[in-house]
Amino acid sequence: MTDIDTKEFRNALGAFVTGVTIVTTLSDANANGDAESTPVACTANSFASVSLDPPLVLWSIARSAQSFDAFEKAEHFAVHILHSAQVGLSNLCATKNADKFGEISWHPGLNGVPIFDDYNTCFQCSVENKYDGGDHVIIVGRVHKFDSSDKAKNAKPLVFYRGAYAGLG
Ligand SMILES: Cc1cc2nc3c(=O)[nH]c(=O)nc-3n(C[C@H](O)[C@H](O)[C@H](O)COP(=O)(O)O)c2cc1C
Repeated sequence: MTDIDTKEFRNALGAFVTGVTIVTTLSDANANGDAESTPVACTANSFASVSLDPPLVLWSIARSAQSFDAFEKAEHFAVHILHSAQVGLSNLCATKNADKFGEISWHPGLNGVPIFDDYNTCFQCSVENKYDGGDHVIIVGRVHKFDSSDKAKNAKPLVFYRGAYAGLG
């Protein structure tokens, strides 16, 4: 129980400027419970760097997310930091029941985790630890591979501020 108003709290947190990422993994079973791997994606701005040695990053997933079960069970995931021309992809992967992989080019990365072809920077991780985070679960990943495209090095990042996309400068 708390006296804090959730909506006001969320608005206050929005004063912290972030980038935007999409986290992907491979679900062991699809929605029908078939033992068939399904690519899963979730837009997230909770991404943060944790440690340089060992190389660790984190993000948090809402327990209410449709992709929660997949990420809770996953042993590997990838974080794509988006560039400013990827608002459409960010919105797509922030939508429940959307076809997130149908029209976007992607390929399997380490351990089959889906990697979008276009991104600013991508980190491919194994799950190092998971922590209870209230209505979220905090997932800490160990980075095994990362890269930025030359195109991305000149691209502007996608920025999120007070509930809206923004640019730098
Ligand atoms: C900019 C932005 C950042 C977001 N950050 C997170 C986040 O860090 N963690 C999270 O669980 N959901 C976050 N969301 C909401 C999810 O993307 C959204 O709930 C989406 O429906 C999740 O996909 P799913 O329902 O298929 O799991 C964010 C949405 C946006 C637009």
